[in-house]
Formats: sequence, C-alpha cells, structure tokens
Amino acid sequence: MRNDLRIAVFASGRGSNLKAIIDAIKSGTIPGAEIVLVISNNPDAGALEIARSNSIPSLHLSRKQFESDQAFDTTVLSTLREYPVNFIALAGYMKRISPAIVRAFRDRIVNIHPALLPSFGGPGMYGSFVHEAVIRSGAAVSGATVHIVDEEYDHGRIILQKSVPVAPGETAGSLAAKVAEIEHQLYPEAIRMFAGGKITMGNQRVATESEP
Ligand code: GRF
Repeated sequence: MRNDLRIAVFASGRGSNLKAIIDAIKSGTIPGAEIVLVISNNPDAGALEIARSNSIPSLHLSRKQFESDQAFDTTVLSTLREYPVNFIALAGYMKRISPAIVRAFRDRIVNIHPALLPSFGGPGMYGSFVHEAVIRSGAAVSGATVHIVDEEYDHGRIILQKSVPVAPGETAGSLAAKVAEIEHQLYPEAIRMFAGGKITMGNQRVATESEP
C-alpha cells in the first residue's frame, strides 16, 4: 500500500545525500514522496543552498536560538506540523534528535550512517573519524547503513545496508568517497521502500520487500 511521504530533511553540511534524494524524486523513482522542508542548524550549510536552488522551503533552526531544549523542540514540532511533515530524513545532521521529537515521529525518522552499524557508530563517530576507525580496525569491508532513529545514537533498527571493500592502502578520504557513492543509491532506495509501503517494522530489525 502506498504511503505518501511529506519529508523534512535535517542536514548540517554539504547536502550530497539531500541532493541524491531530490534527484531521485525528480526522476520519478520515488512515487508518493515529496521533500516539503529542509532544516539546518548551520546557516552556511550547503544543504540550505541546495534546497533554495530546488525551490524547497528551508529554515535555519538551531538550539542556540532558544532558551531551553523544550522551547527548541516546541518550535521544531510546530514547524513540522505547519508544512505538514509526516516523515523525517536525517542527512548529515550533526545534532541528536530529542526524545520529544522521536516520540512524535516514532518509526518515521531515518538516518544514514557512513559505516556498517552496529560497528563504528555512536557519539564521536562521524565524518572522517568513522573512516579512520574502520581503517585502523583492519576491517576488510565498510559501507553505509540506513536505520530508524530512536532515543540512542546510531542505534535504531536497520533498514538497508550496502558494503564496499576496504582496499589495501585505503585512506579515510578514499574510503569516504566510495561510501558516499553508495549512500547516494541507498538513501533514495530506503525512502522508495517507505513510500511504497514495503517496510514492515519488526522488533529487532525491519523487513524489506526483497525478503521473504
Ligand atoms: C554522510 O556521510 C552521512 O552518512 C552522514 O553524514 C554525511 C552527510 O553528507 N550521516 P552530506 O552532507 O549528505 O554530503
């Protein structure tokens, strides 16, 4: 059953995943999905520029603009209601999503992480720190994970993963480039599955259409 998604993308950085999702929607590969809002805590984020150039409403909203966590959450939630949003995709958002927002959008917030969770996740595991840790560990593969966001960092149920080999002599930079390339396929694919109603929430993990 189709599940129309009105998506808010939360992003702090360059926005290449946002761009990949926009391109997939524009090319018609995610029927039923629309990005209705982009929110960034960083006024200089490339993601805001990408939103503007694609005529998607965008907002700079940061905890620093508010007196309390609660005031920030109240504004984020009322903004999401205003558009109205029914699905949130975190795409390089560098802030933890508060429990109040997780509760309001239970099982409807997804994130992409540049490694194969549950390894190489958690606080401090972002950007090149992830790829450096993978290389240091001697792992032969890394990859990307799309997962549900819950109250713990990089912890919610896994939706999709794809691996890439870690080549001998790999650097954090070369691994980041390889992982980014698969992220740009994986994230639109995960959203396509949500929009197509192909996702069933299990207790441990999520079943997707390709599984029995
Ligand atoms: C990606 O590597 C994603 O996995 C992580 O943050 C990065 C965002 O990159 N959560 P971009 O801003 O989408 O280019």
